[in-house]
Amino acid sequence: MASSNSDIWSAEKYKTAASFVPALTTTVVKYLDVQPHDHILDIGCGDGTLTTQLAKTASSGRILGLDASQSFIASAQKQHTTDACSFKLQDCTQLDACSDVDGSWDKVFSNAALHWILRKPDTRVDVFRNAHKALKSGGRLVFEMGGAGNVAEVQAACTAASLHCGLSISEAREANPWFFPSVKWMEQTLADVGFSVEICELEYRPTKLNPDTPSGEGGLIGWLKLLAAPYITAVPESKREAYLQEVCDVLDPIMTHEEDGTKWMGYTRLRAVARKP
Ligand SMILES: C[S@@+](CC[C@H](N)C(=O)[O-])C[C@H]1O[C@@H](n2cnc3c(N)ncnc32)[C@H](O)[C@@H]1O
Repeated sequence: MASSNSDIWSAEKYKTAASFVPALTTTVVKYLDVQPHDHILDIGCGDGTLTTQLAKTASSGRILGLDASQSFIASAQKQHTTDACSFKLQDCTQLDACSDVDGSWDKVFSNAALHWILRKPDTRVDVFRNAHKALKSGGRLVFEMGGAGNVAEVQAACTAASLHCGLSISEAREANPWFFPSVKWMEQTLADVGFSVEICELEYRPTKLNPDTPSGEGGLIGWLKLLAAPYITAVPESKREAYLQEVCDVLDPIMTHEEDGTKWMGYTRLRAVARKP
């Protein structure tokens, strides 16, 4: 990974544990309103599954996906690169150093990535400053990310299990890999860097997890092993199995629908459309 964190991602595991992430995007893709000639910069593009779908509509335009995961970028380059769709390894907390942030883009897009990218308070506002700089005048930043209250039950269960493994409360909080802002924070931040905010909304959207698999890469356990990896790696290696067991024991009955056994997580999505005047 091109940032200080280790690369937790794998395209194969992402498909098994979280294929719903690039799929549940009807509203944000509608807001993006892709046009055939659009030039779109996709921030935190992951394995490129969604990027390549957008590229089909932007058939005479250009799409560039940026991501800090070497594994995801390698997989995206191998599977999805075309003349109009390309991918580049880039830590999006460091966009100042990126030559593609050049005021040429019609749209800057991001799905399910900004709550990771904005984790560190000191680089947070610069991400939006650079998105603004990347756009043409009249261009739009369109994104969806976790918003205030997202997966609150997971955060509570992981924090408690971290304490039981001997972490202090500040260490347990520090292990949380996400930042889930409120609408008020987002509107203010976007306005402060010069955007005109057209839409900024929060939606509580309970999300059905992928089914369990015999290998333990799907279902709740697969979700935790992939998406909550930074919580898990913050506890000593000898305690990680017990940690995962505790988190699953706490969450399982809360998340499981009695009637059909499906597991649902309390996703809250924050979506925004902001125009560069
Ligand atoms: C849940 S995935 C979403 C991927 C994709 N947008 C999708 O809709 O499937 C989150 C992505 O954020 C990326 N990410 C996290 N921190 C990042 C950073 N500092 N710079 C760039 N990408 C980052 C991860 O590598 C991962 O690909």
